[in-house]
Amino acid sequence: MKFEKLPVNPRIVAANREVERAANKAIRAFDAVKSKLGLRGRAAAYDDEAYEFVGGPNDAMRRKHYDKSLRLLWKAEQAAPWSTFNDATDGEKVLIGMAERGMSDAEKAARARISSAEFRALLDREYTLAEKKAIVAILSAIGHGEAYAWMVSASTLTEVKSTGAKAAVTMQVMEEAKHFVVLRELIQAFNVEVPRQSAWEYLLLEGALKARGLDKFFGMNVIVETVALNIFGMFSDKPGLEVLRLFHLDESRHTALPDNYFKEFPMTAWERGNPRARLARLKMVLPLLPLVFFLEADLSELGVDPFSFAGAVLRKTTVLSERSGFKLPMPGTQLMSVFNAAFNAYCSATREGHVWQNYMNAETTHGVAEAAIEREIFGSPALHAA
Ligand SMILES: [Fe+2]
Ligand SMILES: [Fe+2]
Repeated sequence: MKFEKLPVNPRIVAANREVERAANKAIRAFDAVKSKLGLRGRAAAYDDEAYEFVGGPNDAMRRKHYDKSLRLLWKAEQAAPWSTFNDATDGEKVLIGMAERGMSDAEKAARARISSAEFRALLDREYTLAEKKAIVAILSAIGHGEAYAWMVSASTLTEVKSTGAKAAVTMQVMEEAKHFVVLRELIQAFNVEVPRQSAWEYLLLEGALKARGLDKFFGMNVIVETVALNIFGMFSDKPGLEVLRLFHLDESRHTALPDNYFKEFPMTAWERGNPRARLARLKMVLPLLPLVFFLEADLSELGVDPFSFAGAVLRKTTVLSERSGFKLPMPGTQLMSVFNAAFNAYCSATREGHVWQNYMNAETTHGVAEAAIEREIFGSPALHAA
């Protein structure tokens, strides 16, 4: 026997229960009427009778995003040993020690837990000052983006239905928090001034945060995360930036989230294609154009053609938005043609001997593993280009 029962008055217990039953019925009925009238009824989309969020269990979404994210969860202490993070468990530290014991001296040296000062020295050795400034200019654009991804995903949490989708978005919130704080330390290790958001990043990210309802998925998971995928894919095979592979892996999962969600809870035809939503989405995409012009010098410093970069981003966002059902004022192929014409016109005016090209066929992701992941998500460039 674990508990020693105390005496109670059964009549009083029964009366208290009766009062609760009546109050519960009245409160629920009152809130239900308020909800029907469009006033603030029950705030939580939670079904306590079914012990489930409204929308049901949605185990498919939980397995694809929550379970998978936990399986692929990485710790900064292991992946970025030069950082200040102390997030590995005792078990993970034992495993690192065991793996190091089985290594040759050369392997150990390569895997050595380099300090922050040594990491900064490595960056100084590998990159010129101009290259460091260009890397920081590009990485910080997505660094500010991670702050917004954190806020947008947290606000999406209350918008999605079902237990599985809420579990999936919760992992995104956690991963974006990690991306923001870890990327911040990586960028600061370059020891050059970190620029504030450009006007175009500001408009792009504020647009995603202010988007109505699940159009936040369009602004963040389709546009901003595809820009992030391209930036991480461009840098992940460069010295000192290997940790960005793990960012790339997480972002690829985040770009798949809207499509997986809408498979369970499809948008209505009105949500997909009403004129106001189409225009709002175009407004979210447009800052990408001046952003490319703005980053031209920095991308060129690193040997990346800015319009090839932008073409790759646009092709991938078109694939994702069409797959998820987010319609724009014009079909994706037409929009790509317009952007392509704008890029070619700009290049004809600013570059000597410019030859017209289809930038929408370009690919700027360098890492072999990253390119394979992207092929799985987006297919091959030629299939989708205008
Ligand atoms: Fe992120
Ligand atoms: Fe993300």
